[in-house]
Amino acid sequence: MVLITGGAGFIGSNFVLDWLANSDEPVVNLDALTYAGNLENLASLQGDVRHIFVKGSIGDFDLVAKLLADHQPRAVINFAAESHVDRSIHGPGEFIQTNIVGTFNLLEAVRAYWCGLQDDARAVFRFLHVSTDEVYGSLGTDDPPFAETNRYEPNSPYSASKAASDHLVRAYHHTYGLPVLTTNCSNNYGPFHFPEKLIPLVMLNALAGKPLPIYGDGQQVRDWLYVKDHCSAIRRVLEAGRVGETYNVGGWNEKPNLDVVHTLCNILDELRPRADGKPYAAQITYVKDRPGHDRRYAIDATKIERELGWRPSETFDTGIRKTVQWYLDNQPWVQNVTSGAYKQWVGKQYGGD
Ligand code: NAD
Ligand code: TYD
Repeated sequence: MVLITGGAGFIGSNFVLDWLANSDEPVVNLDALTYAGNLENLASLQGDVRHIFVKGSIGDFDLVAKLLADHQPRAVINFAAESHVDRSIHGPGEFIQTNIVGTFNLLEAVRAYWCGLQDDARAVFRFLHVSTDEVYGSLGTDDPPFAETNRYEPNSPYSASKAASDHLVRAYHHTYGLPVLTTNCSNNYGPFHFPEKLIPLVMLNALAGKPLPIYGDGQQVRDWLYVKDHCSAIRRVLEAGRVGETYNVGGWNEKPNLDVVHTLCNILDELRPRADGKPYAAQITYVKDRPGHDRRYAIDATKIERELGWRPSETFDTGIRKTVQWYLDNQPWVQNVTSGAYKQWVGKQYGGD
């Protein structure tokens, strides 16, 4: 049994679905169901006894301690976080609470549980912390990609709060011997991506006939990874990663934002042409840049390949096509997310708000 936090969000829900597709080991899924948590992502697991969902916060020490005592997991995988840079600029407080204080409380509960385990269980236990490449700051055009040895230079409240959580995880290993693993991954895309982030936002706006907002000059570079590849990397690190180590995870897919948006427009032109025959790219609109906008992220994923034999299985071309098709095929999911109706679905299904 494993305990997953944030398993109703974008990456966490993909991870839970992939985990249960690959093994029968049960999952306890602790998620606070913030605006980003959506149990509809896990609707295909309804009635599946291998998935135990618990609504609650990683910051709730007593709840986490009880879950650990009741279920005796062999691993905790921490996805729970506030994850959107723009929201962190408007209101950093939640990011401090969840990403820093929440991770601290989670670590405290896990440390107490781990200390009380029998020798065999203690030896195999792992705490895997899911983090981001944004902790390394911003690269210049000719800089080499981020290696695990790069110094931390976070620039947004989001990346600063993730950096702080990474440091706490590191300290719990160094000081208390907690068997931790950390992954620092590049930008993900794929099914169940909440439409506040660039790729789903552009797709939805395109189909709705709305402007496609490009921050600044659109030449900022991100290294895109299909979410299922991120999930397989986390499974591999959990299985074979060296305790106390960090692993960078990336897709070897550096793209300027404008290229990503043009690719999306081209695929939509082919799969769902506009009624007036005009290209979706006509909807591209330049808007004010994000304050402190990081110019370039790129991941050197050599270590995880060399030590653990992991490589992404999707190229950007194959992954983005699958993603567009998924959004076209899952319009009810899109409509519920955008209308907020999925919150009512949660209330109906599990009670409460
Ligand atoms: P997301 O915002 O889609 O989901 C976050 C989930 O965490 C939601 O289900 C939310 O309800 C839950 N949550 C928030 N606060 C919580 C709390 N206090 N207790 C329990 N659950 C809580 O995020 P995501 O994109 O799926 O990212 C998951 C993790 O991966 C995050 O830690 C993020 O920093 C990291 N990451 C994301 C990306 C990316 O491109 N999205 C890339 C690298 C790393
Ligand atoms: P985002 O998906 O928010 O991820 P992150 O900021 O964590 O990299 O944004 C990806 C890139 O796209 C980033 O450079 C900001 C840019 N962007 C836009 O140009 N327009 C938008 O409407 C959004 C949401 C993002």
